[in-house]
Amino acid sequence: MTTKTIEHDVSDIGQAGAGERRIQWAAREMPVLAGIRERFAKERPLTGLRIGACLHVTAETANLMQTLAAGGADIALCASNPLSTQDDVAASLVANDDISVFARKGEDRDTYYTHINAVLATKPQLTMDDGADLVTELHTKRRELLANVKGGTEETTTGVTRLRAMASEGVLAYPIVAVNDALTKHFFDNRYGTGQSAIDGVLRATNLLLAGKTAVVAGYGWVGRGIAARLRGMGAITIVCEVDPFRALEAAMDGFEVTTIADAASRGDLFITATGNVNVIGKEALAKLKDGAIVANAGHFNDEIDLATLTSLASGCRELRPLVNEYRLRDGRHVVVLADGRLVNLAAAEGHPPAVMDMSFANQALSVEYLIKQGRDLQAQVYPVPRELDEHIARAKLDAMNMKIDQMTEEQRTYANSWKAGT
Ligand code: NAD
Ligand code: ADE
Repeated sequence: MTTKTIEHDVSDIGQAGAGERRIQWAAREMPVLAGIRERFAKERPLTGLRIGACLHVTAETANLMQTLAAGGADIALCASNPLSTQDDVAASLVANDDISVFARKGEDRDTYYTHINAVLATKPQLTMDDGADLVTELHTKRRELLANVKGGTEETTTGVTRLRAMASEGVLAYPIVAVNDALTKHFFDNRYGTGQSAIDGVLRATNLLLAGKTAVVAGYGWVGRGIAARLRGMGAITIVCEVDPFRALEAAMDGFEVTTIADAASRGDLFITATGNVNVIGKEALAKLKDGAIVANAGHFNDEIDLATLTSLASGCRELRPLVNEYRLRDGRHVVVLADGRLVNLAAAEGHPPAVMDMSFANQALSVEYLIKQGRDLQAQVYPVPRELDEHIARAKLDAMNMKIDQMTEEQRTYANSWKAGT
């Protein structure tokens, strides 16, 4: 462990050893990122680049930070959620990797923003966000720092939605790569990653038996599809609520019952929201929840469960287990909220397993390199991860998994591109 002179604010630097081992454990499942790190260490494409990152501070994120540092970047990192920090990992990044980390699990809102501002104070030339809080703070309160910034990346659906809104209002000040939209990101991270880790969070928090329970999933996007599939796999009778008719139809043809949240409210034992929207379990649904219903959220912000209304209906609230709060309603019912309505997979479990974050963070690392090499030609818009990088990651992951795929023959390529051949 080196003597610490770099700026940081972590819960307990003494946990660095445990964090280091956890980071190494995750690394075993992150071979694609490891390949990039090896190349970055030789080529140093990010030499001197100041990166400000606002991500979930997990063992997987630590592997990304080490990769960027191997490429020559100077990094300051804060949390993208007040409950998602792994304190031992935060300590290890400071103690063993000389990375400035400002993150404590359970930090309050003021500390969360103090930490974001500590990262901004390092005058980042590149921002890396998960949910666009760093970008929003920079564009609203720290505009004097915008001139330093060459580009940025965004990890999640909600962040990309917000950045697109900024771009269409003409207020986005620099180009941002939408990592979320890479196929090797949302196909796997949002679906299989959240599908597994959201269930993991619910089970670690509650020790609930899912078999035979009625579970309601709100949102049948990438995240909702994964969660619904895994709930069904664990034996839960699974209902899906949607607002999009195509996705609702898809859920129906995937074999789920589809109905409104108002109808599902009185039937569910467990609710998981995954919409990126606000008050999805709102007044009407809260009025109908059955006694003992458990509600949790897997969408980015803690806006999906109307906690203000729930609080106004309650005569009291007690913590039954860590991250399990039971609200006692004046009409005699009890409603159980997990992780204060924040991302249940990161607050109550460890987030996605490293094998899936391998691809998400390979996209992050290659997108940073792309922005450094090509950024000058980009406008202040939201850009996709270039297709060739996405495909490179897919092939590298298949390779690491020892899976081979076929290649078209010349004859097949010609056939596939022609229109004249018929019956
Ligand atoms: P998506 O756009 O693919 O899916 C969201 C779905 O919710 C859409 O089908 C939409 O029609 C539906 N929806 C919107 N409002 C609704 C409402 N009131 N009721 C029912 N359905 C509604 O997005 P996604 O990639 O699935 O992401 C969903 C959320 O999860 C986002 O906030 C995203 O940032 C977050 N996310 C979380 C994690 C995690 O680790 N927990 C990982 C990836 C994404
Ligand atoms: N988002 C979801 N799971 C994650 C993880 N394990 N690390 C960082 N960000 C995440």
